[in-house]
Amino acid sequence: MTESATQRLSVAPMMDRTDRHCRFLHRLISRQTWLYTEMITAKALLHGDAARLLRHDSSEHPVVLQLGGENPRELAHAARLGQEAGYDEINLNVGCPSDRVQSGAFGAALMARPDHVADCIGAMAAQVGIPVTVKCRIGIDAQNPQETLPRFIDTVAAAPCRTFIIHARKAWLQGLSPKDNRTIPPLDYGLVHEIKRARPDLTIILNGGLRDVPHALDASKGLDGAMIGRAVYQNPWLLADADRLAFGSTAAMPERAHIVEQLIHYAEREVRAGTPLPAITRHAIGLFTGMPGARLWRRILSEEAPRPGAGADVIARAASQVLGQAWAA
Ligand SMILES: Cc1cc2nc3c(=O)[nH]c(=O)nc-3n(C[C@H](O)[C@H](O)[C@H](O)COP(=O)(O)O)c2cc1C
Repeated sequence: MTESATQRLSVAPMMDRTDRHCRFLHRLISRQTWLYTEMITAKALLHGDAARLLRHDSSEHPVVLQLGGENPRELAHAARLGQEAGYDEINLNVGCPSDRVQSGAFGAALMARPDHVADCIGAMAAQVGIPVTVKCRIGIDAQNPQETLPRFIDTVAAAPCRTFIIHARKAWLQGLSPKDNRTIPPLDYGLVHEIKRARPDLTIILNGGLRDVPHALDASKGLDGAMIGRAVYQNPWLLADADRLAFGSTAAMPERAHIVEQLIHYAEREVRAGTPLPAITRHAIGLFTGMPGARLWRRILSEEAPRPGAGADVIARAASQVLGQAWAA
Protein backbone atom coordinates (compact mmCIF):
# COMPACT_ATOMS: atom_id res chain seq x y z
CA MET A 1 0.00 0.00 0.00
CA THR A 2 1.19 3.53 -0.63
CA GLU A 3 1.89 5.87 2.26
CA SER A 4 -1.17 7.96 1.54
CA ALA A 5 -3.51 4.98 1.80
CA THR A 6 -6.55 6.04 3.76
CA GLN A 7 -9.13 3.44 2.97
CA ARG A 8 -9.33 -0.26 2.73
CA LEU A 9 -11.36 -1.11 -0.33
CA SER A 10 -12.28 -4.72 -0.99
CA VAL A 11 -14.28 -6.95 -3.28
CA ALA A 12 -16.84 -8.96 -1.31
CA PRO A 13 -16.68 -12.72 -0.90
CA MET A 14 -19.27 -14.23 -3.25
CA MET A 15 -20.00 -17.93 -3.55
CA ASP A 16 -19.81 -19.28 -7.06
CA ARG A 17 -18.21 -15.96 -8.08
CA THR A 18 -14.97 -14.95 -6.35
CA ASP A 19 -13.00 -18.08 -7.16
CA ARG A 20 -9.32 -17.88 -8.07
CA HIS A 21 -9.99 -17.04 -11.72
CA CYS A 22 -12.26 -14.17 -10.76
CA ARG A 23 -9.75 -12.86 -8.24
CA PHE A 24 -6.96 -13.10 -10.80
CA LEU A 25 -8.95 -10.87 -13.14
CA HIS A 26 -9.77 -8.38 -10.39
CA ARG A 27 -6.12 -8.26 -9.40
CA LEU A 28 -5.13 -7.44 -12.97
CA ILE A 29 -7.35 -4.37 -12.78
CA SER A 30 -6.51 -3.20 -9.25
CA ARG A 31 -3.21 -3.94 -7.55
CA GLN A 32 -4.29 -2.89 -4.08
CA THR A 33 -7.94 -3.71 -3.57
CA TRP A 34 -8.35 -6.50 -1.03
CA LEU A 35 -9.78 -9.71 -2.48
CA TYR A 36 -11.80 -12.38 -0.70
CA THR A 37 -12.35 -16.03 -1.48
CA GLU A 38 -15.83 -17.48 -1.69
CA MET A 39 -16.94 -18.79 1.69
CA ILE A 40 -15.29 -22.15 2.31
CA THR A 41 -16.69 -24.17 5.19
CA ALA A 42 -14.28 -25.37 7.84
CA LYS A 43 -15.68 -28.87 7.40
CA ALA A 44 -14.94 -28.84 3.67
CA LEU A 45 -11.37 -27.83 4.37
CA LEU A 46 -10.87 -30.44 7.05
CA HIS A 47 -12.53 -33.31 5.19
CA GLY A 48 -12.15 -32.30 1.54
CA ASP A 49 -9.41 -31.44 -0.90
CA ALA A 50 -7.87 -28.58 1.09
CA ALA A 51 -5.08 -27.96 -1.42
CA ARG A 52 -7.61 -27.41 -4.21
CA LEU A 53 -9.93 -25.28 -2.07
CA LEU A 54 -7.10 -23.05 -0.86
CA ARG A 55 -5.37 -22.66 -4.20
CA HIS A 56 -4.64 -19.09 -5.22
CA ASP A 57 -2.19 -17.22 -7.41
CA SER A 58 0.76 -15.42 -5.85
CA SER A 59 -0.43 -12.21 -7.54
CA GLU A 60 -3.66 -12.19 -5.53
CA HIS A 61 -2.29 -10.61 -2.35
CA PRO A 62 -3.72 -9.05 -0.32
CA VAL A 63 -6.18 -11.95 -0.28
CA VAL A 64 -8.45 -13.11 2.53
CA LEU A 65 -9.78 -16.59 3.16
CA GLN A 66 -13.41 -16.51 4.25
CA LEU A 67 -14.49 -19.41 6.43
CA GLY A 68 -17.96 -20.64 7.31
CA GLY A 69 -18.63 -22.72 10.38
CA GLU A 70 -19.59 -22.65 14.03
CA ASN A 71 -17.32 -25.21 15.65
CA PRO A 72 -14.41 -23.37 17.31
CA ARG A 73 -12.05 -26.34 17.05
CA GLU A 74 -12.78 -26.91 13.35
CA LEU A 75 -12.58 -23.20 12.57
CA ALA A 76 -9.26 -22.92 14.38
CA HIS A 77 -7.85 -25.83 12.39
CA ALA A 78 -9.19 -24.40 9.13
CA ALA A 79 -7.74 -20.97 9.95
CA ARG A 80 -4.37 -22.60 10.51
CA LEU A 81 -4.57 -24.27 7.08
CA GLY A 82 -5.42 -20.88 5.59
CA GLN A 83 -2.41 -19.26 7.18
CA GLU A 84 -0.14 -22.08 6.04
CA ALA A 85 -1.49 -21.69 2.50
CA GLY A 86 -0.36 -18.04 2.56
CA TYR A 87 -3.58 -16.06 3.03
CA ASP A 88 -3.17 -12.59 4.52
CA GLU A 89 -6.20 -12.74 6.78
CA ILE A 90 -8.97 -15.11 7.87
CA ASN A 91 -12.56 -13.85 7.87
CA LEU A 92 -15.50 -15.54 9.56
CA ASN A 93 -18.84 -15.43 7.77
CA VAL A 94 -21.58 -14.20 10.12
CA GLY A 95 -23.82 -12.86 7.39
CA CYS A 96 -24.89 -15.56 4.99
CA PRO A 97 -28.60 -16.42 5.23
CA SER A 98 -28.94 -19.47 2.97
CA ASP A 99 -30.87 -22.54 4.17
CA ARG A 100 -27.82 -24.72 3.88
CA VAL A 101 -25.94 -22.36 6.14
CA GLN A 102 -28.82 -22.08 8.60
CA SER A 103 -29.13 -25.83 8.95
CA GLY A 104 -25.49 -25.78 10.05
CA ALA A 105 -26.46 -22.90 12.41
CA PHE A 106 -23.69 -20.70 11.10
CA GLY A 107 -23.55 -17.66 8.84
CA ALA A 108 -26.08 -14.98 9.81
CA ALA A 109 -27.70 -17.27 12.41
CA LEU A 110 -24.60 -16.59 14.53
CA MET A 111 -25.70 -12.95 14.96
CA ALA A 112 -27.92 -14.31 17.76
CA ARG A 113 -24.92 -15.91 19.52
CA PRO A 114 -22.26 -13.26 20.08
CA ASP A 115 -20.62 -15.21 22.92
CA HIS A 116 -20.27 -18.21 20.67
CA VAL A 117 -18.84 -16.08 17.85
CA ALA A 118 -16.33 -14.73 20.38
CA ASP A 119 -15.38 -18.33 21.25
CA CYS A 120 -14.89 -19.13 17.57
CA ILE A 121 -12.77 -16.03 16.96
CA GLY A 122 -10.77 -16.64 20.13
CA ALA A 123 -9.99 -20.21 19.04
CA MET A 124 -9.02 -19.08 15.54
CA ALA A 125 -6.90 -16.16 16.73
CA ALA A 126 -5.03 -18.47 19.10
CA GLN A 127 -3.97 -20.62 16.14
CA VAL A 128 -2.75 -17.99 13.68
CA GLY A 129 -0.55 -14.92 13.57
CA ILE A 130 -2.56 -13.18 10.85
CA PRO A 131 -5.67 -11.07 11.59
CA VAL A 132 -8.96 -12.86 12.14
CA THR A 133 -11.89 -10.67 11.10
CA VAL A 134 -15.69 -10.88 10.98
CA LYS A 135 -18.19 -10.11 8.21
CA CYS A 136 -21.65 -9.70 9.66
CA ARG A 137 -25.08 -8.15 9.16
CA ILE A 138 -26.58 -5.41 11.35
CA GLY A 139 -28.94 -8.01 12.79
CA ILE A 140 -31.35 -10.83 12.06
CA ASP A 141 -35.11 -11.33 12.24
CA ALA A 142 -36.72 -9.60 15.24
CA GLN A 143 -33.48 -8.20 16.65
CA ASN A 144 -33.35 -4.45 17.22
CA PRO A 145 -29.97 -3.70 15.64
CA GLN A 146 -29.60 -0.44 17.57
CA GLU A 147 -29.31 -2.58 20.69
CA THR A 148 -28.03 -5.92 19.50
CA LEU A 149 -25.35 -4.80 17.03
CA PRO A 150 -23.28 -2.76 19.54
CA ARG A 151 -23.49 -5.68 21.97
CA PHE A 152 -22.44 -8.14 19.26
CA ILE A 153 -19.50 -5.95 18.25
CA ASP A 154 -18.33 -5.36 21.83
CA THR A 155 -18.53 -9.06 22.69
CA VAL A 156 -16.69 -10.24 19.58
CA ALA A 157 -14.14 -7.39 19.74
CA ALA A 158 -13.07 -8.74 23.13
CA ALA A 159 -12.33 -12.15 21.55
CA PRO A 160 -10.17 -10.38 20.11
CA CYS A 161 -11.38 -9.18 16.70
CA ARG A 162 -10.28 -5.75 15.49
CA THR A 163 -11.97 -5.62 12.07
CA PHE A 164 -15.66 -5.88 11.25
CA ILE A 165 -17.11 -5.72 7.77
CA ILE A 166 -20.75 -4.86 8.20
CA HIS A 167 -23.31 -5.59 5.50
CA ALA A 168 -25.61 -2.77 6.50
CA ARG A 169 -28.91 -4.60 6.36
CA LYS A 170 -30.62 -7.27 8.42
CA ALA A 171 -30.91 -10.85 7.27
CA TRP A 172 -34.44 -12.19 7.60
CA LEU A 173 -33.90 -15.87 8.13
CA GLN A 174 -37.56 -16.78 7.77
CA GLY A 175 -39.33 -16.32 4.49
CA LEU A 176 -36.73 -14.60 2.30
CA SER A 177 -34.44 -16.24 -0.24
CA PRO A 178 -30.71 -15.48 0.03
CA LYS A 179 -31.09 -13.30 -3.07
CA ASP A 180 -33.99 -11.31 -1.58
CA ASN A 181 -31.97 -10.98 1.62
CA ARG A 182 -29.48 -8.92 -0.37
CA THR A 183 -32.08 -6.42 -1.59
CA ILE A 184 -35.23 -6.35 0.54
CA PRO A 185 -34.13 -5.63 4.13
CA PRO A 186 -33.41 -1.88 4.08
CA LEU A 187 -29.84 -0.55 4.23
CA ASP A 188 -28.83 1.39 7.33
CA TYR A 189 -25.42 2.97 6.75
CA GLY A 190 -26.08 5.33 9.67
CA LEU A 191 -25.92 2.49 12.18
CA VAL A 192 -22.52 1.39 10.85
CA HIS A 193 -21.28 4.96 11.37
CA GLU A 194 -22.68 4.89 14.92
CA ILE A 195 -20.69 1.74 15.61
CA LYS A 196 -17.52 3.47 14.45
CA ARG A 197 -18.24 6.50 16.62
CA ALA A 198 -18.79 4.23 19.64
CA ARG A 199 -15.71 2.12 18.88
CA PRO A 200 -13.14 4.30 17.10
CA ASP A 201 -10.49 1.76 18.12
CA LEU A 202 -11.97 -0.85 15.74
CA THR A 203 -11.60 -1.09 11.97
CA ILE A 204 -15.12 -0.77 10.60
CA ILE A 205 -15.80 -1.48 6.93
CA LEU A 206 -19.07 -0.73 5.18
CA ASN A 207 -20.74 -3.16 2.77
CA GLY A 208 -24.07 -3.33 0.95
CA GLY A 209 -25.49 -1.51 -2.06
CA LEU A 210 -22.32 0.40 -2.96
CA ARG A 211 -22.51 1.21 -6.67
CA ASP A 212 -18.91 2.02 -7.53
CA VAL A 213 -15.65 3.20 -5.97
CA PRO A 214 -16.59 6.89 -5.61
CA HIS A 215 -19.91 5.94 -3.98
CA ALA A 216 -18.14 3.46 -1.70
CA LEU A 217 -15.62 6.06 -0.58
CA ASP A 218 -18.27 8.69 -0.06
CA ALA A 219 -20.59 6.42 1.95
CA SER A 220 -17.70 5.18 4.10
CA LYS A 221 -16.21 8.58 4.96
CA GLY A 222 -15.31 8.44 8.65
CA LEU A 223 -15.09 4.64 8.51
CA ASP A 224 -12.04 2.57 7.68
CA GLY A 225 -13.06 1.17 4.36
CA ALA A 226 -15.70 -0.20 2.06
CA MET A 227 -16.46 -3.50 0.39
CA ILE A 228 -18.23 -3.81 -2.96
CA GLY A 229 -19.75 -7.06 -4.19
CA ARG A 230 -22.26 -7.33 -6.99
CA ALA A 231 -21.45 -4.06 -8.73
CA VAL A 232 -17.81 -5.05 -9.24
CA TYR A 233 -18.67 -8.59 -10.26
CA GLN A 234 -21.04 -7.30 -12.92
CA ASN A 235 -18.61 -4.63 -14.08
CA PRO A 236 -15.04 -5.47 -13.03
CA TRP A 237 -13.79 -2.34 -14.74
CA LEU A 238 -15.17 -0.36 -11.78
CA LEU A 239 -11.90 -1.37 -10.09
CA ALA A 240 -9.85 0.60 -12.61
CA ASP A 241 -9.81 3.75 -10.50
CA ALA A 242 -9.63 1.95 -7.13
CA ASP A 243 -5.87 2.20 -6.59
CA ARG A 244 -5.89 5.91 -7.32
CA LEU A 245 -9.04 6.87 -5.43
CA ALA A 246 -8.93 4.52 -2.44
CA PHE A 247 -5.23 3.89 -1.95
CA GLY A 248 -3.70 7.12 -3.20
CA SER A 249 -1.68 5.39 -5.92
CA THR A 250 -0.10 7.66 -8.51
CA ALA A 251 0.44 4.84 -11.01
CA ALA A 252 -1.23 5.19 -14.41
CA MET A 253 -4.77 3.83 -14.80
CA PRO A 254 -4.84 0.35 -16.31
CA GLU A 255 -5.87 -0.04 -19.94
CA ARG A 256 -8.43 -2.58 -21.04
CA ALA A 257 -6.24 -3.76 -23.92
CA HIS A 258 -3.40 -4.53 -21.54
CA ILE A 259 -5.69 -6.33 -19.09
CA VAL A 260 -7.16 -8.45 -21.88
CA GLU A 261 -3.68 -9.33 -23.09
CA GLN A 262 -2.71 -10.57 -19.64
CA LEU A 263 -5.99 -12.45 -19.34
CA ILE A 264 -5.22 -14.23 -22.60
CA HIS A 265 -1.81 -15.34 -21.33
CA TYR A 266 -3.44 -16.54 -18.11
CA ALA A 267 -6.12 -18.45 -20.02
CA GLU A 268 -3.49 -20.08 -22.23
CA ARG A 269 -1.65 -21.37 -19.15
CA GLU A 270 -4.80 -22.48 -17.39
CA VAL A 271 -6.40 -24.21 -20.36
CA ARG A 272 -3.14 -26.08 -20.96
CA ALA A 273 -3.33 -27.23 -17.34
CA GLY A 274 -6.89 -28.51 -17.85
CA THR A 275 -9.10 -25.57 -16.74
CA PRO A 276 -12.19 -25.26 -18.97
CA LEU A 277 -12.14 -21.86 -20.69
CA PRO A 278 -15.62 -20.77 -19.45
CA ALA A 279 -14.37 -21.09 -15.86
CA ILE A 280 -12.22 -18.06 -16.68
CA THR A 281 -14.25 -16.15 -19.24
CA ARG A 282 -17.50 -16.18 -17.22
CA HIS A 283 -15.94 -13.66 -14.83
CA ALA A 284 -14.89 -11.39 -17.68
CA ILE A 285 -18.31 -11.12 -19.35
CA GLY A 286 -18.86 -7.65 -17.88
CA LEU A 287 -15.41 -6.27 -18.66
CA PHE A 288 -16.67 -3.93 -21.37
CA THR A 289 -19.90 -2.88 -19.65
CA GLY A 290 -21.05 0.47 -21.01
CA MET A 291 -18.56 0.45 -23.89
CA PRO A 292 -19.34 0.12 -27.57
CA GLY A 293 -18.99 -3.56 -28.45
CA ALA A 294 -19.91 -4.80 -24.97
CA ARG A 295 -22.69 -6.99 -26.35
CA LEU A 296 -20.45 -8.50 -28.99
CA TRP A 297 -17.79 -9.27 -26.36
CA ARG A 298 -20.40 -10.95 -24.16
CA ARG A 299 -21.86 -12.89 -27.06
CA ILE A 300 -18.54 -14.23 -28.38
CA LEU A 301 -17.41 -15.28 -24.90
CA SER A 302 -20.69 -16.92 -23.94
CA GLU A 303 -21.20 -18.72 -27.24
CA GLU A 304 -17.68 -19.76 -28.13
CA ALA A 305 -15.93 -20.39 -24.80
CA PRO A 306 -18.06 -23.47 -23.93
CA ARG A 307 -17.34 -25.20 -27.27
CA PRO A 308 -15.22 -28.35 -26.97
CA GLY A 309 -11.56 -27.58 -27.37
CA ALA A 310 -12.03 -23.80 -26.98
CA GLY A 311 -8.84 -21.99 -26.07
CA ALA A 312 -7.59 -18.50 -25.24
CA ASP A 313 -7.95 -17.49 -28.90
CA VAL A 314 -11.68 -17.04 -28.18
CA ILE A 315 -10.80 -14.13 -25.86
CA ALA A 316 -8.44 -12.77 -28.50
CA ARG A 317 -11.17 -12.93 -31.14
CA ALA A 318 -13.68 -11.19 -28.91
CA ALA A 319 -11.15 -8.53 -28.00
CA SER A 320 -10.20 -7.86 -31.59
CA GLN A 321 -13.87 -7.27 -32.41
CA VAL A 322 -14.26 -4.82 -29.57
CA LEU A 323 -10.87 -3.15 -29.43
CA GLY A 324 -10.21 -3.27 -33.15
CA GLN A 325 -6.71 -4.63 -32.76
CA ALA A 326 -4.98 -7.79 -33.86
CA TRP A 327 -4.49 -10.14 -30.97
CA ALA A 328 -1.97 -12.91 -30.93
CA ALA A 329 -3.24 -15.69 -28.75
C1 LIG B 1 -23.74 -14.51 -5.60
C2 LIG B 1 -23.40 -14.03 -4.22
C3 LIG B 1 -22.72 -14.87 -3.36
C4 LIG B 1 -22.37 -14.44 -2.08
N1 LIG B 1 -21.61 -15.24 -1.27
C5 LIG B 1 -21.15 -14.77 -0.08
C6 LIG B 1 -20.22 -15.50 0.69
O1 LIG B 1 -19.73 -16.57 0.31
N2 LIG B 1 -19.82 -14.97 1.89
C7 LIG B 1 -20.30 -13.76 2.33
O2 LIG B 1 -19.91 -13.30 3.42
N3 LIG B 1 -21.17 -13.05 1.60
C8 LIG B 1 -21.58 -13.50 0.41
N4 LIG B 1 -22.40 -12.72 -0.36
C9 LIG B 1 -22.77 -11.38 0.12
C10 LIG B 1 -21.74 -10.35 -0.36
O3 LIG B 1 -20.47 -10.60 0.19
C11 LIG B 1 -22.18 -8.93 0.05
O4 LIG B 1 -22.25 -8.87 1.45
C12 LIG B 1 -23.55 -8.56 -0.53
O5 LIG B 1 -23.66 -8.92 -1.88
C13 LIG B 1 -23.81 -7.06 -0.36
O6 LIG B 1 -22.83 -6.30 -1.03
P1 LIG B 1 -23.14 -5.67 -2.50
O7 LIG B 1 -24.44 -4.93 -2.37
O8 LIG B 1 -21.97 -4.77 -2.77
O9 LIG B 1 -23.24 -6.82 -3.44
C14 LIG B 1 -22.75 -13.14 -1.63
C15 LIG B 1 -23.44 -12.31 -2.51
C16 LIG B 1 -23.76 -12.73 -3.80
C17 LIG B 1 -24.47 -11.78 -4.73
